[in-house]
Amino acid sequence: MKKILTGIQSTGTPHLGNILGVIIPSINMANNSKYSSFIFVADLHSLIQMKDLETIRYNTYQIAAAWLAFGLNTEKSIFYRQSDVSEVTELAWYFNCFFPYQRLTLAHSFKREISRKGKINVGLFTYPMLMAADILLYNAEVIPVGKDQLQHIEITRHIASHLNKKIGQKLFVLPKAFIPIKTGLVPGTDGKKMSKSQKNWINIFSSDEILKKQIMSIHTDNKSLKEKKNPDKDCIMALYRLLAPLDRVEEMKKRYIKGGYGYLEAKKELYECILKKFSSERMKFSSFVKNKSLLDRIFYLGAKKARNIAYERLNKIRKTFKFNSLFKI
Ligand code: ADP
Ligand code: TRP
Repeated sequence: MKKILTGIQSTGTPHLGNILGVIIPSINMANNSKYSSFIFVADLHSLIQMKDLETIRYNTYQIAAAWLAFGLNTEKSIFYRQSDVSEVTELAWYFNCFFPYQRLTLAHSFKREISRKGKINVGLFTYPMLMAADILLYNAEVIPVGKDQLQHIEITRHIASHLNKKIGQKLFVLPKAFIPIKTGLVPGTDGKKMSKSQKNWINIFSSDEILKKQIMSIHTDNKSLKEKKNPDKDCIMALYRLLAPLDRVEEMKKRYIKGGYGYLEAKKELYECILKKFSSERMKFSSFVKNKSLLDRIFYLGAKKARNIAYERLNKIRKTFKFNSLFKI
């Protein structure tokens, strides 16, 4: 059985990019008997971007409710909060000490954030080490992620092979990223990667009114209603393609090419399509998110399962590093 693992940071409610890029493809694998799965809320990672602890906790529930609304089976998958498995931070420390500083300065996410913000924290710099620990603690083989995470998986592979060589044994499995071809980079309302930090998201779990506003804010060129439009260079169409049945997509494409069809109409169709496609998930989400005691129980059971595995595994790693104790402490 192949082991899959993925995480979403608790920096907001999962948006359409997270859902199409990671949640749906991961659940398809996780609920399949060919895979065992580890799915978690990366709340420790979210501290890099957010300092409001109440909001991080609130978001943690939002993420859990989204996974459940889309049908994650938490009896089959191990579903947990990253902060509940403290073994991961010890492993990250080992990685910090074995990974070359210079190479980490080249990470895209690090370079992007310093150019954007200037003032950043140490956590942002060592972020890929914690992510590598998330993966290598369980020796997961397949990592469903969006395109933006590819470099982090490469860094993880680098750490695994470097340490295996150093130790002279295959202690760490080299993971592979699984990036869905069509949905690995879902565009946001501004045409750039949809992201929680860019406020360009479409949140399918928001109220009808807010969802409509988000869709109406999608950037377009300023062609008039009458003019012909290019279906291959338009964000509404790009999103519609990912969601609507093929015949409806073809229909919209023809209207674009013909002219006499405005962006407002296209946005309305996209809105209707989202409401219809996700009506059941939207209902389930609002019921799960209200049931905090159920979510807490799910996290508790998941943490117990994850920690048992993590404890055994970390002991093995400690032994290899000669950090094991002769006595039970
Ligand atoms: P965000 O980038 O919005 O802050 P996260 O960093 O928590 O979200 O990402 C969680 C997962 O969702 C990652 O695997 C990431 O690659 C994926 N993801 C994020 N945005 C998109 C997107 N626009 N399209 C596809 N996948 C995405
Ligand atoms: N870094 C990922 C993101 O921001 C979240 C994450 C943390 C993750 N640890 C992981 C994803 C391990 C996959 C595997 O999107």
